[in-house]
Amino acid sequence: MKKLDMLYEGKAKKVFKTDVEDVYVVDYKDDATAFNGLKKGTIVGKGVINNRMSNHLFQVLEKEGVPTHFIEELSERETAVKKVEIIPLEVIIRNFSAGSFAKKLGIEEGRKLLIPTLEFSYKDDDLGDPMINDYYAIAIGVATREEIERISEMAFKVNEVLKKYFAECGIELVDFKIEFGRHKDEIILADEISPDTCRLWDINTHEKLDKDRFRRDLGNVEGAYNEVFKRLGL
Ligand code: C5P
Repeated sequence: MKKLDMLYEGKAKKVFKTDVEDVYVVDYKDDATAFNGLKKGTIVGKGVINNRMSNHLFQVLEKEGVPTHFIEELSERETAVKKVEIIPLEVIIRNFSAGSFAKKLGIEEGRKLLIPTLEFSYKDDDLGDPMINDYYAIAIGVATREEIERISEMAFKVNEVLKKYFAECGIELVDFKIEFGRHKDEIILADEISPDTCRLWDINTHEKLDKDRFRRDLGNVEGAYNEVFKRLGL
């Protein structure tokens, strides 16, 4: 397979066309951004870790019946994925209070929620990814009711599978963001699942092992990403 023109460069990844129909290549960078691009930096080796980890987790999810865009890992930083039309929604699931939820509701970080919650943000950098609900998404034509229901069902399934999987590695899955795409007549999991897109805490000490170390200048960012990588046996 040959990598052709770059289609898109995002904050953490580049996406390339290929000479194979229906296949794109994703190339993971070490660039890190936070607060809608206001804070910029580099997390050395992050691209390699996120590529490997995301691919591994997508394969775990596939085995549990969640369809994903993953096809094949091509190199340390490159993966072949199915071409999808990304649905411009950030789908966020939370098991514990943290981040924007904690701030918005004045609830201390780390409180276990009585049920897992789901929220949507509309993916638009200029607007700062505003939080919307299912009615907004349908009203502005982002997704149909059937798609929203399928996305929600898949997101909760991802949570159940990954919560258990991370717990077996001594990691609490506090919250995470996922994205979905349309592929043929199916909705599949796309984008990535990594310490950039999840809050991962040590299950006993609650030490942060994710991008909050970069966002909040907590230090040892690379060490935390490597620790998760190691605990997953990668
Ligand atoms: O900031 P907030 O608490 O809303 O983030 C919830 C979860 O979504 C966190 O795991 C965070 O890493 C992830 N997220 C993301 N990309 C964004 C916003 C949030 O991966 N643009």
